[in-house]
Order: sequence, then structure tokens, then C-alpha cells
Amino acid sequence: MAAAAAALALTVPVVAGYLDAKYQLMSDLHLISTLTFCRIQALLREKRDRLNPFYTLEENAQKFPERTWIWFQGREYTYKQGYEAVIRHGNWFRDEQGVKKGDIVAIDFMNCPEMIFIWIGLWSVGGIPAFYNYNLTGDALVHVVKVSTAKLAIVGHRVEQTVGVKKQINDALPEVKVVIFDEDLENKVNGWRLDRPEDELLSGAKLADMAALVYTSGTTGLPKPAIVSWWKNTGASKFVALWLKLNPGKDRYYTAMPVYHSSAALFNVMACLQIGATSCLGEKFSNRTFWPEVRASGSTVIQYVGETCRYLLTAPPSPDDKNHNVTKAFGNGLRGDVWKEFRERFGIRAIGEFYAATEGMSGTWNMNTGDWGVGAVGVAGALINLLQGSKTAIVDIDYETEEIWRDPATGFCKKVPNGERGEMIFKLDENDIGASYKGYYRNEKASMSKLLRDVFKKGDAWFRTGDVLTVTDDGLIYFNDRIGDTYRWKSENVSTMEVSNAINSHPRKIVLDSAVFGVPLPNHDGNAGVACVVLHPEVKEDEATFDELLSYLQKSLPRYATPLFIRVIGEVERTGNNKVVKGGLRKQGVDPEKTAGQAGGVWWLKDGKYQKFTDDDWREIKAGRVKL
Ligand SMILES: *[C@@H]1O[C@H](CO)[C@@H](O)[C@H](O)[C@H]1NC(C)=O
Ligand SMILES: *[C@@H]1O[C@H](CO)[C@@H](O)[C@H](O)[C@H]1NC(C)=O
Ligand SMILES: *[C@@H]1O[C@H](CO)[C@@H](O)[C@H](O)[C@H]1NC(C)=O
Ligand SMILES: *[C@@H]1O[C@H](CO)[C@@H](O)[C@H](O)[C@H]1NC(C)=O
Repeated sequence: MAAAAAALALTVPVVAGYLDAKYQLMSDLHLISTLTFCRIQALLREKRDRLNPFYTLEENAQKFPERTWIWFQGREYTYKQGYEAVIRHGNWFRDEQGVKKGDIVAIDFMNCPEMIFIWIGLWSVGGIPAFYNYNLTGDALVHVVKVSTAKLAIVGHRVEQTVGVKKQINDALPEVKVVIFDEDLENKVNGWRLDRPEDELLSGAKLADMAALVYTSGTTGLPKPAIVSWWKNTGASKFVALWLKLNPGKDRYYTAMPVYHSSAALFNVMACLQIGATSCLGEKFSNRTFWPEVRASGSTVIQYVGETCRYLLTAPPSPDDKNHNVTKAFGNGLRGDVWKEFRERFGIRAIGEFYAATEGMSGTWNMNTGDWGVGAVGVAGALINLLQGSKTAIVDIDYETEEIWRDPATGFCKKVPNGERGEMIFKLDENDIGASYKGYYRNEKASMSKLLRDVFKKGDAWFRTGDVLTVTDDGLIYFNDRIGDTYRWKSENVSTMEVSNAINSHPRKIVLDSAVFGVPLPNHDGNAGVACVVLHPEVKEDEATFDELLSYLQKSLPRYATPLFIRVIGEVERTGNNKVVKGGLRKQGVDPEKTAGQAGGVWWLKDGKYQKFTDDDWREIKAGRVKL
């Protein structure tokens, strides 16, 4: 093995340099050995019929009963206390709610320990949780309840207080029973019987089977319930804990990302449970409470998603910035333009960035400490390429149709060369697709839409991520965009992420935040770039500001990528995982009728500078008298 590894190291391109090659080899070895270990262990647990994480909780409660499992707002629950709470919650489901093995039960909670006890309590009696996004109301709420097929929904009283879902569900779906989990009920359940569930209720879990339903964040369209398997809740979660080198007795790992999404559920809560570490929960993300809670909980590792780190950087510098014990930040979506600033300002040694999709079956991983690898979502050296290279591919896309490009002669897809953009796809076992790809619950159409057949040879099967990535010659993997986020202008492909990175990284921080997209214009081909920007409060919305921004953009972006329109807005809308929601803004476009009455105006790039975009200008464009 060592000799083979050494030989492989030599095949790493010379440009990467000796140190990078050595680093890559070590990182490859760590990743592959960890993943292999977790796979074997999960298979053994499956064979012994001990896959249900309730068993792991039980083992932890026996091995280190006094160790803290969950921290929340200053309260701590040891593994023993948590184990007992889980059993009581499970018995309550059985005795009082009539939950039977295989029943799907909806959970609608802001992060809190009770949510975890309910979740694993359900597992302990054979139930299956469906996690609802607590921000959902109206049609979207009714939709997620309906497609989950749950007949029972447990709603946290904090959600009921702020959102008021009970009446909405009752009115639309009278067959669904909604139980508000308030303080009285909490007390009642905490006194419930403590008889351990029988093994029959826990048995039969297979790695590929459904363990939970987690909804996609729905930045476009209605959320879809993705089936999350036992493998993800056991092996994949444990892999993350080991890859992060979490030290079970010492590390405390904080997340304020919503547990209803898979990032926090699998890669914080389950990851900690799998190795017996301490999970510190924030009720929800807020840049006001984030660091105080990290300090109060004594956390050593933090989780971020999406633009979380950018938000944290908007706070004015404080003498407390480095007053914490955090050595690692783990998550996905940290962008290159704030990566180093975040690491340096808060004195965090390592960033663990990864790329994966809730519905996906594979991922890329980058543990970064120095300059090399900043901004990358993954590192894949020669060893990974050798062992995993046939399981992932980056293929050419037709950006017009947003379909994967196929050779007209052969009908097959084409891998792009290193350094070029393409869609990331993951290999599936064509003879047993369900083994690794679970798709969406009772939504054959959506599930199939992510499947690709006959990609490189007749009969093979792959999963479409819908994400555009690039691999460089030295094995760094970068995320560019979601597919719909790349638009075409003047026959060039523009990455909205590249544009917003450039805008946000102006040295004087003129712009605090931005959302970039392309919109069709009357009488023009392609899509014109629109940058919706949140200006720094001390910056005026005037020509001088935009002159300054423009001269910066001209230095950092290709000409065709400089946004033709700039629209000043009050704030950028986000999902619970801090991902940008652009749908509404894109629909408004630059039509003055639709953009009126907002925080700021629309500006356009005309005669070499940004100028106010008026109703007359819009009429001229519509009449075809302006050519951009
Ligand atoms: C929180 O973020 C907002 C901008 O989104 C910023 O104005 C504010 O100063 C931040 N507050 C703290 C305490 O970080
Ligand atoms: C960091 O850890 C040290 C040593 O364990 C401890 O004394 C200190 O209070 C911790 N600081 C914070 C902010 O938790
Ligand atoms: C843009 O993408 C299309 C594929 O849709 C490709 O054929 C074309 O070469 C790309 N253009 C540039 C300039 O990269
Ligand atoms: C979700 O709801 C919480 C509580 O009502 C609110 O503070 C938060 O801003 C909402 N988040 C989103 C993304 O809508």
C-alpha cells in the first residue's frame, strides 16, 4: 500500500509542488480510510441488526452516561438523561398517539433538545420523522404536509407562537392531527414510562431504507421531500465526525443551522451522536447570538451553511472576535471572497468545506488551513482519482436548455477538461439504482428527472446534481453555480456567483450583500445581468458610488460579465440555511412597474457609466430603439 501510494504521489502534476502533493496524499488517505472504515462498520451494524441510531445512543449512555450530549441555551443533557428522554418520548408516541412501526410523523420545530428527543424517540418505536421547515406557511405548508403523507404533526410551541400553523393545517387537511408541544405536554412526557422499547420495533433497518424525510430548501419551486437513508444517518454522519477529527470527550460542536435540513441533522446532531461528542444547538441563526452562544457553550467547532460567515463578518469588529475556543469551522457554501477574512478575523485555524446534496450520494471535501485550497469545496489527489474517479464526473452542459450536452453523433456525454466548468454527476449502480439513490418520496417524476442514462456507455446510470463545478489540474474542486444560475450574454456564459463575489469583495465594502441573476430583455438575445445590491449604510446611492464600483468591476470581471443593471434593495432574502432566494427578484427584473416602491432605484450601464434607469429608458428598450 505504501509503495503504491508513493508511486501515485509521483503522478500528481509537478505544478502542485512537493508539499501540495504530500498534503494531497495525506488528505486522500485520511478521507479514503475513514470512509472505508465507516462503510464496513455500517455494514456490520446492518448485519447485526443494530443500525437504528437508538442503539448507538444506548451504547453511549452505557459507556459514558455523564458526558454531555446536548447543550441548549445554557442547559445540558447528558447521554444518560438524553437516552431516558428519548425512551419516554417514544413511549408517549406509542401509548398516547398510537404511532406504529413504519408511521411517518411530521416534526415542525425550531432547534431545541425536545426536537431531538422526539426525533429519536420516534425511531425508538419504529416511526419515521418528516422534518418541516418551521418558516413555512400557507400553500407551501399545506403542500409539505400533504406530500409527507403524515397523519400526525408535532409542532413546537415556539413555532405555533410565531407562525401559527395549527389552524392552517386543520383548515386545509382536517384528517391530519396537529399536536402542539407546549410546556404542559413537555412536563407530561418527561414523566412518561421508562420501559425500553422492544427490539422488534427497532429491527429490520437496512442501509438503503428510508430513515427520515428532509425537504429540499426550495430556492425554486415548492420544497420536495428527499428520502434520507439509514446509511446517511449512521455511516455518512460518522464519516463527517471522523473526517473532522472530532474528539468525543473534548470537542463541543455548535450549530445554529436548522435541524430540519440535512446539514445540521446529519452533520452535527447525528455526527456527534455517532461518536459520542457534544452537540451545542442554537435555536436559530442570528448574528447577535452566534458568538455569545459559541462562548457560553465552550464550543470548539462550529457549523456554517451558505452565507452564514458573510453575515458574521458584517458585524463591526469587536475585541471579543477571537475570544472563543473554536479551532474549526465546518460547512458548505463559504465563498472564496470572505474565506480568509473569516478565518483571520475570528482566529479559526481550519475551514472544513464540503460539497454534497441532500438527495446525492457522494461528496467532495476540503480541510483548509493555509493559502492553498482557499475557496475550494474539495481536494482530490491522485489516490482519490484512482479509487473514486470512475464514480464522479464533470460533464459539459448546454446552457441554453440547461440539459447535459450530448454528442449528436454518439448520443453520449462529454467530460470537460480540467479547468473548465461542467455539471457534477455521480455514478449509480445501474442494476440497483435504489441502493444509493433514494430520490423523492412518492414523486417518481421528480426522482426520475435527476437520473441520467446512457451517459458514457449504453445502460449506465448517473445522478444529476444540477451544480456547476470545476476541477483544476492540481486537484482542487470549485463550486461555480447552480445550473439555473449561469446565464448567457453576448454568447458568453456568465456565472452569477463570480459576479457577486466580485461585487462583494470591493475593498471598501461598498456592497454588503448581493443577489445576481440574468433576465431576458425585450428585443435582445440572452439574458442581461442584474445585480441586486444592499449598500453599506454609510454609502450613498449616487453616481460617485457606482463609478467607484464600476471601475473595480472592470478590473475584476470580464467585460461581458459586468452587470448591465444594478438595483438597490434593502436586504437579500435567504432560506433557513442562509442560501440566497432570487426567484422573486428575477421575476421583477428591471421593469419599472414591478421594481417601484423598493428601498432604492435601478441603475443601468450606459455610455460607460451607471446611470439612473428611467421609465423612458424602459420604453425605449421595449420599442427596440436601444441596443445593449
Ligand atoms: C448583524 O447583521 C447586520 C447586517 O445584516 C448588521 O448591521 C449588524 O451590525 C449585525 N449585528 C451584530 C451584533 O453582529
Ligand atoms: C477556552 O478554554 C480554556 C481552557 O479550557 C478555558 O479556560 C476558557 O474559559 C475557554 N474560553 C472560552 C471562551 O470558552
Ligand atoms: C457556453 O456554453 C456553451 C454550452 O452550453 C458552450 O458551447 C460554449 O462554448 C460556452 N461559451 C463560452 C464562451 O465558454
Ligand atoms: C424564520 O422564522 C423565524 C422565526 O419566526 C424568523 O426569525 C426568521 O427570520 C425566519 N427565517 C426565514 C429565512 O424566513
